[in-house]
Amino acid sequence: MTETLDIKITKTNHSRLHETDFSNLQFGRTFSDHMFVADYEDGEWKNFQIVPYGEIGFSPAISALHYGQAFFEGLKAYKHADGQVSIFRPDKNAARFNKSAARLCMPQLPEEIFIQSIASVVDMDRDWIPSKPHHSMYIRPFMFATDPYLGVHASKTYKYIVLIGPVGPYFAKVLRVKVETHFTRAAEGGMGYAKSAGNYGGAMLPALKATEEGFDQLIWTDAKDHKYVEEMGAANVMFVLDGTLITPSTRDTILDGVTRDTVLTLAREWGMPVEERRVSIAEIIDGAKTGKLTDAFGAGTAATIAPVGSLSYNGEECFLTDPKEREFSQKVLKTLDSIRYGAVADTHGWNYIV
Ligand code: PLP
Ligand code: COI
Repeated sequence: MTETLDIKITKTNHSRLHETDFSNLQFGRTFSDHMFVADYEDGEWKNFQIVPYGEIGFSPAISALHYGQAFFEGLKAYKHADGQVSIFRPDKNAARFNKSAARLCMPQLPEEIFIQSIASVVDMDRDWIPSKPHHSMYIRPFMFATDPYLGVHASKTYKYIVLIGPVGPYFAKVLRVKVETHFTRAAEGGMGYAKSAGNYGGAMLPALKATEEGFDQLIWTDAKDHKYVEEMGAANVMFVLDGTLITPSTRDTILDGVTRDTVLTLAREWGMPVEERRVSIAEIIDGAKTGKLTDAFGAGTAATIAPVGSLSYNGEECFLTDPKEREFSQKVLKTLDSIRYGAVADTHGWNYIV
């Protein structure tokens, strides 16, 4: 790690590491001892600091709270068997961070600040990274508007923070998935491609309703006709249909996922036919019924590779094959793990070594 940012470090005088129950980690509930904080003022990023994780103060009038000028990223750090620590493809998240920022009229964050802020806090709390299989350190960089001003205008000041915390598997089971044909996550011209906080707030009611109906997740469909697949919860969705890996092509309603890109890259290298295109619900349901659909999974940083067990569309539930017997998703998960945990050579240069 090349250290060029001038970061003021204040260490905690009471580490919580030994009080933390690593055998029972719930996603997003455990935070390490430190966090990275920076401010945007007078047109520049300043006050780079690592401080003990804890509450921060701000005005109740900040526009992040009122108008949603807020967005985030999600990535992970992994501990290798030899103790080395790597962060998976942070350059991709840095680029997407700035796409989100641009959509929300928020300032760009230079890639080197994004990567060094993450690497420095991960390095400081590296003892918090679990070594157990399927465990890692979730990294949550985010930015929000801090002008205490109720006018509906882009703020002039912002805060950038990086929280990190140990995590285990996000989904504990094979998913019963509902194809959502009423609610919409994102429409053309909207901000589906950005990781804006509001996208997730708006998804909570549809997700809650799906849970009440007994489902674990939903597949979003296009806002206009509800006929085409978009994403699955907070993950991209991929299918193997008739031997071809297919996934919705990215557009302004879809988040351009790092895991999605990684899976597509591996599949192409393995010589598998790959199609990024519009994917209709009809062909997926038809494939499920005829047995041509041999794999279906969500792909995301938190979700990793999350197998779909069944798909429900207009009240009819179609069951898919046993995930343990699915050749493609099993192979992809194994390969991803081997790369991320340093068990095989990182020929793509995906691991950023801390
Ligand atoms: N789509 C949405 C809406 C997400 O929140 C995520 C998670 O980050 C993804 C897709 C997957 O993206 P990535 O693989 O970069 O985590
Ligand atoms: C991630 O995979 O990083 C996500 O953003 C999912 C999160 C909303 C739980």
